[in-house]
Formats: sequence, C-alpha cells, structure tokens
Amino acid sequence: MNQKTKAISFSCAVMMAAFMWNAQSHATEAGDKEAPLMVAEVSGPNTFNLNLKKPKSRNLPPAEDGIHDPENEATHSLQHPLEAYKGLPTSEFGNYVDWVKALDQGKLRPRWDRADPNDEPFVMDLDIVRPVKASVPDVVFPHRQHTEWLLCSNCHPAIFVPQRLANQISMSAILLGQKCGVCHGKVSFPVETKTCRKCHSKPKPADWQPPLSEATLKNPWK
Ligand code: HEC
Ligand code: HEC
Ligand code: HEC
Repeated sequence: MNQKTKAISFSCAVMMAAFMWNAQSHATEAGDKEAPLMVAEVSGPNTFNLNLKKPKSRNLPPAEDGIHDPENEATHSLQHPLEAYKGLPTSEFGNYVDWVKALDQGKLRPRWDRADPNDEPFVMDLDIVRPVKASVPDVVFPHRQHTEWLLCSNCHPAIFVPQRLANQISMSAILLGQKCGVCHGKVSFPVETKTCRKCHSKPKPADWQPPLSEATLKNPWK
C-alpha cells in the first residue's frame, strides 16, 4: 500500500464510521430498528435550486449568508466573498465564479498539504457517460474536475457505487438534493437553464430514437 491508497482507505474507513454512527442515531430517533440504508445524508431539498426560486441576492457577507453563524466572532473576520472572488474567472450562475477554470488557470491552490506536507491530489481522468433515455444530450460525469477538489471517499461508496451505470440517477433525485444534487446546487454549480449543458454535454448519436416502452412493443394491435 502506498501513501495515497493508505490515505484513501483511511478516509474511507472514517467516513463509513461517521456514516454508520449518523444513520444509527437517526434510526434510534425514529424508533426504527431496521438496518440503516446506504444513502448519503442530505439536509433536505435543494434550497439553492433556481428552478424553484430565485435568490434575492448572491455572495452576501458571511454574517448574512445564512450559512455562517453570525453569533460567532470568527464569522466577522472572514473575507467578504465579493472581495475574495475578485480576479477569478466568472460564470453566469451559482456564485458567478467558474471554479474549474480558476483551478485550471492556477488561480487557486487547494490545500492538500494541510494535514500532511507530502500529500498530493489523486486526480483521476476518467469520464463516465450516462446515456439518457429522454431526448436531452447524454450526461458526461468527469472524474478529473471532481478529483482535483475531492477525495474518492467524498462520493464512493456513500453517494455512488463505483461502477458505471450501477447507480440510478434522475433529475428529480438531483433536485431533491440526492446523487449529484448532494453537491450541485449547494457547494458546486446549481441546476438551472444555463447549466443543463454542463452535465448534458454529449450530443445524441445522429440515428438516436426514443426507446419504446414495453407496453408499446407488446401492443398486439400495432
Ligand atoms: C464527485 C463524485 C465522485 C468522486 C469524487 C469520484 N467518483 Fe468515481 N464515480 C462517480 C460516478 C458518478 C461514477 C459513475 C457511476 C454510475 O455510472 O453509476 C463513478 C464511477 C467510478 C468507477 C467505475 C468505472 C467503471 O468504468 O465502471 C470507478 C472505478 C471509480 N469511480 C473510481 C473512483 C476513484 C478511484 C476516485 C478517486 C480518485 C473517484 N472515483 C472519485 C463519482 C465520483
Ligand atoms: C449536475 C448535473 C446535471 C445538471 C446540471 C442537469 N442534469 Fe439532467 N440529468 C443528470 C443526470 C446524472 C441524469 C440521469 C441520467 C441517467 O439516466 O443516467 C439526468 C437526467 C435528465 C433527464 C432524463 C429524465 C430524468 O429525470 O432522469 C432529463 C429530461 C434531464 N436530465 C434534463 C435536464 C435539464 C432540462 C437540465 C437543466 C435545467 C438538466 N437536466 C440539468 C445530470 C444533470
Ligand atoms: C461530492 C460533491 C459532488 C458530487 C456528488 C457531484 N459533483 Fe460535480 N462538481 C463538484 C465540484 C466541487 C465541482 C467543481 C466546482 C464547480 O464547477 O462548481 C463540480 C463540477 C462538475 C462539472 C463541471 C466540469 C467543468 O469542466 O466545468 C460537471 C460537468 C459536473 N460536476 C457533473 C456532475 C454530475 C453529472 C454529477 C452526478 C453524477 C456530479 N457532478 C456530482 C462536486 C460534486
């Protein structure tokens, strides 16, 4: 086991432990004795979801953003986002920063070395194409852009089983804050008209036909 795999399996174990503890304490609260399901913790529907409601303003100072505790002194020493985001490449959604571009251009340097000065990101360049039954372009999930920020254990195995097409994902789940929506709409770009094509980025093959339902295929009157 090298340093990286060790770190990953360790964080996996920590995450699993935290998850089990969490799931268990919830089960007790609900008086539910069933084994906890393997689902990620979510805080409820996606409040950042702009299909539901437009926020009045963005990038408020930390004490007013509804995320940081205004009672905590340290909140007031945080930099105002408008100041912090100055000079970063912009986007038309979320908090108006294109974070992937910012990282690609070297404008940001995530602190991989915070706990261990020799730690390096474990970036994996693997695209997963998810064919979509509807007529919208297919979804491409890029591992590179994610693993430049995140650990494998941020997604595997609690949010996604690491196997292509083994996970059932839908827009309704995402909008409810599950699957991709655990992050998208909360800490990464939201789901709105301007962002459909960021995920739905692979055009359908020229000869694509909508799949017929079983009922249609079996229709004896056809
Ligand atoms: C942001 C979430 C996320 C992160 C972080 C992440 N993955 Fe994945 N991974 C996915 C998704 C989504 C799939 C596709 C699952 C599906 O199609 O059902 C996937 C699929 C995989 C697969 C299956 C590939 C195949 O062809 O079957 C492997 C292996 C994998 N990931 C390994 C990793 C490793 C190793 C890391 C860390 C370097 C990592 N993943 C980080 C979300 C993530
Ligand atoms: C964060 C990534 C992401 C964004 C943004 C996104 N989608 Fe999706 N979408 C997905 C994934 C993943 C699936 C599931 C694909 C599959 O079947 O495996 C999906 C599925 C769908 C489907 C198929 C039916 C369903 O509900 O599963 C439709 C239609 C769709 N998206 C439309 C849209 C539209 C319209 C937008 C913009 C308003 C959008 N999507 C934005 C990731 C995204
Ligand atoms: C654990 C958190 C997390 C999950 C889960 C997650 N993402 Fe992301 N995603 C991010 C972050 C962080 C970024 C980079 C910041 C940003 O672009 O907002 C990102 C960026 C992206 C990008 C932009 C790449 C670019 O080049 O601009 C795409 C596309 C994307 N995600 C698709 C998906 C899809 C599809 C899923 C579900 C299958 C998903 N993500 C699940 C956190 C996540």
